[in-house]
Amino acid sequence: MTKLHEVSSTQLPGIDKLPISDFKNHRDNFFNKMAPNSVAFFSASHEATRSNDTEYAFCQNKHFYYLTGFNEPDALLLLLKTDDVQRSILFSLPKDKAHEVWHGRRVGQEKACQFYNFDQSFELDELSNLVPQYLNDLSQVYFCFDSNEMSQQVFTWLSQVRSTIRQGSKVPEVLIDASPIINELRLIKSANEIAVMRQVNYISGLAHQRAMLQSDVGKYEYQIETELLHEFSRLGARHPAYASIVAGGDNANILHYTDNDETLQDNELLLIDAGGELSGYAADITRTFPINGKFTEPQKLLYQVVLNAQLTVIKAIKPGTSFAKLNAIANECLTQGLIDLDILSGDLKELLDEKACKKYFIHGLGHWLGLDVHDVGDYHINDNKEQCREFVAGMVLTIEPGLYMPKDDYALEEKWRGIGIRIEDNIVVTEQGYDNLTVNSPRTINDIEALMQNKATNL
Ligand code: GLY
Ligand code: MN
Ligand code: MN
Repeated sequence: MTKLHEVSSTQLPGIDKLPISDFKNHRDNFFNKMAPNSVAFFSASHEATRSNDTEYAFCQNKHFYYLTGFNEPDALLLLLKTDDVQRSILFSLPKDKAHEVWHGRRVGQEKACQFYNFDQSFELDELSNLVPQYLNDLSQVYFCFDSNEMSQQVFTWLSQVRSTIRQGSKVPEVLIDASPIINELRLIKSANEIAVMRQVNYISGLAHQRAMLQSDVGKYEYQIETELLHEFSRLGARHPAYASIVAGGDNANILHYTDNDETLQDNELLLIDAGGELSGYAADITRTFPINGKFTEPQKLLYQVVLNAQLTVIKAIKPGTSFAKLNAIANECLTQGLIDLDILSGDLKELLDEKACKKYFIHGLGHWLGLDVHDVGDYHINDNKEQCREFVAGMVLTIEPGLYMPKDDYALEEKWRGIGIRIEDNIVVTEQGYDNLTVNSPRTINDIEALMQNKATNL
């Protein structure tokens, strides 16, 4: 096996960012969904204050990023579609030497057009002057209804146009929520998006390996978190896609445990749910392993039930299947496994009808993955949410069965209490079936124990 420190960013299997032309393709795809004589607005994120005059690491609005690749705060994208033009226009902060010397470089308007392929670019201050002019005489306006700020902004601009009706202005009458349209576009990934996700998965898999190699009785959970961040960053994924969950022992039974401030105990498991973010795209991997490198017998038995369920579900992924069908497979595997271990008793079919395993499998089987860790896109094809949509090639999703046996669940035999297990991989649906992006963090009992047996030599 290649030692971790010998893996360099030049050996990674994917690409580290999308070509800038892909963002123009995304805009063109959105243009194709727009009615004639319409305009669409997408706004960038603002910086978020952490305290006083310090900010959190900037995270761009993901819809805006998908359509632009532009990573500055406060900007606005305007897509204009009339009978004879289709124009993408960026409004962004101006070049400003005094500001930039403190806070960092800005792209400015000239480079925005040259580098990001916008047709036009204006300073942000021009918005209130120019947007009402664009709106005049159009029929439809697209924006994301879930943004109060954008909604208010659009209504202000529409009022401005309305105030000049006597001078012959015509106000757009139809407002359309842009979110469902862009959600559907984002749900199906292009080959380049999958290549970025392959890369960030590979990096994150190595980070999980590093965490296994660094795990030791007595260390703090946050010290293992640091090892993950080290490996993400060393290989190009500067930030985690979400707060890493590093949960020793019973902490694994808190699904979104992020305190990460307790010490690791002998003979307990460590559940790590962590993934890097690369060019905006997330990985979301969970591994559960013994802190001292050796599973106890009860841990082994429960772990194998979860792993069997995960492997069986993943094998069933292909176009035409759905989360509903995969859930049925997962529930059957987990229920049978729990019967075999005497944790559930009764008839399999009756237990399935009662959804008995949900007592221990307390979350969903998986979710879409992409620019957001819980990515956008409907899971159902009808409004009453009864019919699950079928998978098609290009969707990326997680498969993450788990079993959770809290320490204070006295209905359980003592040997199971305090064990929480989740195993989570990231899967692309392909024309032929599936492609598992999570290739390099061990998940069988043998592979995990083998890696951890030789900690010093593998690092
Ligand atoms: N990391 C959150 C999740 O697995 O859904
Ligand atoms: Mn997940
Ligand atoms: Mn996860």
